[in-house]
Amino acid sequence: LTVAVLISGTGSNLRALLDAAADPSYPARIVVVGADREADGLAHAEEFGVPTFVVPWRGAAERDAWGAELSAQLRVWQPGLVVLSGLMKLLPAAVVDEWSPRIINTHPAFLPEFPGAHGVRDALAAGATQTGASVIVVDGGVDAGPILAQERVPVLPGDDENALHERIKPVERRLLIDIVRRIADGELDLAAPALH
Ligand code: GRF
Repeated sequence: LTVAVLISGTGSNLRALLDAAADPSYPARIVVVGADREADGLAHAEEFGVPTFVVPWRGAAERDAWGAELSAQLRVWQPGLVVLSGLMKLLPAAVVDEWSPRIINTHPAFLPEFPGAHGVRDALAAGATQTGASVIVVDGGVDAGPILAQERVPVLPGDDENALHERIKPVERRLLIDIVRRIADGELDLAAPALH
């Protein structure tokens, strides 16, 4: 299975996927990494010799043009799966329509709790004693697609956003690596994902 990964930040989840895919027995290969900015995480792809591209975000007014360019870049690689791993932008409907259901997203909360760009911060602000990590199929909503996998993560007294996020990320990585493996093995059909 050929996989394209889209990021915006440090790419620690991307790195975990690159590490997993470096094992010849892993049934998926990362063929390209894209970003909406010069993300630090692109360095991980370069370290593994994986091609990268950047489609700079130029504001919500140009979301559709940005999305069209993003899809054009992805089409070059014909990925069997697109993984959003810390892409901090909402995809235009045309992009979702083109790639769905072969497009998944990882989110640092126990969806449908705390969707959106600040899931970790929102869990803390709500005084939650537990949150989680989720991997979903991307649909037209915001973090609203079918849930492929999710797991609870405790919120500890004294947690700030970074501490909690760093406790969530290892769970995200494990879920993501397992889900990509199951998709690659044909065990998980994204068109009809049996709820986890
Ligand atoms: C991840 O927790 C992802 O779910 C969220 O942003 C974080 C990205 O972290 N959308 P990284 O760039 O993979 O380190």
